[in-house]
Amino acid sequence: MKTLAWEHHALQLLDQTRLPGEERYLCCTRWQEVRDAIRILAVRGAPAIGVAAAYAMVLAARDIAADEPDKTQFEIRLAEAGRGLDGARPTAVNLHWAVQQQMNLARRALSSHTVAETVELLEQGACTIERDDAEMDRRIGRYGAGELGKSRQPLTILTHCNAGALATAGIGTALGVIRTLHSQGLVRQVYADETRPLLQGARLTVTELMDDHIPVTLITDNMAAWVMKTKGIDAVVVGADRIAANGDTANKIGTYGVAVLARAHNVPFYVAAPASTFDLTIPDGAAIPIEERNHDEVRSLGGIVATRPDVDVFNPAFDVTPHDYITGIITEKGVIHHPDDAILATFFRKEG
Ligand code: MRU
Repeated sequence: MKTLAWEHHALQLLDQTRLPGEERYLCCTRWQEVRDAIRILAVRGAPAIGVAAAYAMVLAARDIAADEPDKTQFEIRLAEAGRGLDGARPTAVNLHWAVQQQMNLARRALSSHTVAETVELLEQGACTIERDDAEMDRRIGRYGAGELGKSRQPLTILTHCNAGALATAGIGTALGVIRTLHSQGLVRQVYADETRPLLQGARLTVTELMDDHIPVTLITDNMAAWVMKTKGIDAVVVGADRIAANGDTANKIGTYGVAVLARAHNVPFYVAAPASTFDLTIPDGAAIPIEERNHDEVRSLGGIVATRPDVDVFNPAFDVTPHDYITGIITEKGVIHHPDDAILATFFRKEG
């Protein structure tokens, strides 16, 4: 199963809304189709959304170039498409980051290249973003395995949502760490939270781990405390959608609760994320925009209505874990222990 593939000027996206029942690809030839796929979570997970958006910018550029605009018109219309993509999901900063990368590339290219050449350069830019994302996952996996696997004893790990290959262009961030540990014989068991309301844990994480023969046990979200109490969880590892300058971390709704439980049970809590997930322009988690989704996602389960159809609902897709609950953030440049604003500033000054 490949999360996304760029083939013959079209973006093939594995439709994750259908997993695990059906493996079907959406063939996107227009940027608006990618935007809609991001909105409905056909492609999801912060890094994967970023890569998809980078290719969507190529589709937009090709479309606009067909009208033979001058360079100014081309740039204006490309920026419009960028804003359309950027607004598709507000929390994952990788989406904004990838659109900005492509816009900056386009602006630089237009100063010395034709519109047609700029389109080609944007395509190369998207391929580089995809390749780099896969490489970052490998590095995160190595740093994470070095950190968690110090004792060389097989570990029992709990994870929430899906921060795996289905959420990136590579082996995943949190699941990249787990895959790397497993390749060293250092995973005893993974507990996967089902992750209400859309069940990314049950549908996606379980599928990925079972396909790779990594031992996984599925639990409902409200079992995490008891599992920590009774099953000897050695560590929690999760992904991230946006990390503020002080280390406060937005991730799938429920992550904050898991962090609080981990603190109560003395379990180390790790976040695995590439540098593109950090948003150093915002001081702390209070400034992270939290996406609220359709209320029917909560009113039903797997398409079956689970409550009164007119009940009031609150459906935030993400929450923010305060930095002081985080043992370490595993990045492609190394592990940031006990993150806060001073530690993050020093880390990024040193690592670039
Ligand atoms: O709503 P989703 O499925 O896009 O949420 C995904 C998550 O919260 C992931 O943990 C996060 O994006 C990190 S993916 C490497």
